[in-house]
Amino acid sequence: MATVREHYAAHLAPIYLWMAGGIEHALRLGTLDVASLGLPARHDDLAVDLGAGFGMHAIPLARMGYSVIAIDSSPELIDELGIHARGLSIRPIVADLVDFRMHVPGRAARILCMGDTLTHLDSKDSLERLFADVAACLLPGGRFVATFRDYTRLPAGESRFIPVRSDESRIQTCFLEESGDSVLVHDIVHERHGEAWSMKVSAYPKLRLDPDWVVGELQRHGLVVERSAGPRGMVGITAVRGGT
Ligand SMILES: C[S@@+](CC[C@H](N)C(=O)[O-])C[C@H]1O[C@@H](n2cnc3c(N)ncnc32)[C@H](O)[C@@H]1O
Repeated sequence: MATVREHYAAHLAPIYLWMAGGIEHALRLGTLDVASLGLPARHDDLAVDLGAGFGMHAIPLARMGYSVIAIDSSPELIDELGIHARGLSIRPIVADLVDFRMHVPGRAARILCMGDTLTHLDSKDSLERLFADVAACLLPGGRFVATFRDYTRLPAGESRFIPVRSDESRIQTCFLEESGDSVLVHDIVHERHGEAWSMKVSAYPKLRLDPDWVVGELQRHGLVVERSAGPRGMVGITAVRGGT
């Protein structure tokens, strides 16, 4: 089993943009995700994107006028973000998102953690610390938004095999395997080289987060939390810090 970083470095990062349907498609989806949050267009307000990847949400936020700090542990994906973010107010940083406060001067109007990134952390303890830092870093009226998958109930039998994307030269399939408090995510990539196909497999753990636990933890830090049906089958969480 690989660590999250190893899995991205060796397996996912080189094909991540392909997996997401290409930059134009991914940014269209990211723009819709951000629009669905009803965030006002703001000039120079600070937004922090935790686990920003290639910028699916950081880029739309910057296009709305936010000044964005985009943090990701994958240097490959942060490089990709740098290419697509040219001319925008985005500061890309390669770092562990649990240390985000080291990279954020002052407090933020928006903090995002989108696309199932929360489940990538190594333990619920790390999430507890992250939520405490998020609550402390938000401005009064500031908002934390997260989307993640609920793996508390896992598919069984054949439903554990999930087709991700395929074209004439590559097929990606995901296989989910229960492993206590985690789910082992096996990413299986077939690639065509001329007439032959190769297969590469790598697996990494994701946390099985109960959405009610996430809501409770954020409330414990004084945030007003709403849960909703997020995009693409994910759970959506919006947590607002009170005050003016
Ligand atoms: C499923 S992707 C989501 C990317 C992006 N937020 C989106 O919605 O497309 C998870 C991202 O989180 C990053 N990541 C995972 N664990 C991390 C950590 N501890 N610190 C920083 N980034 C992390 C990965 O490198 C990857 O880019």
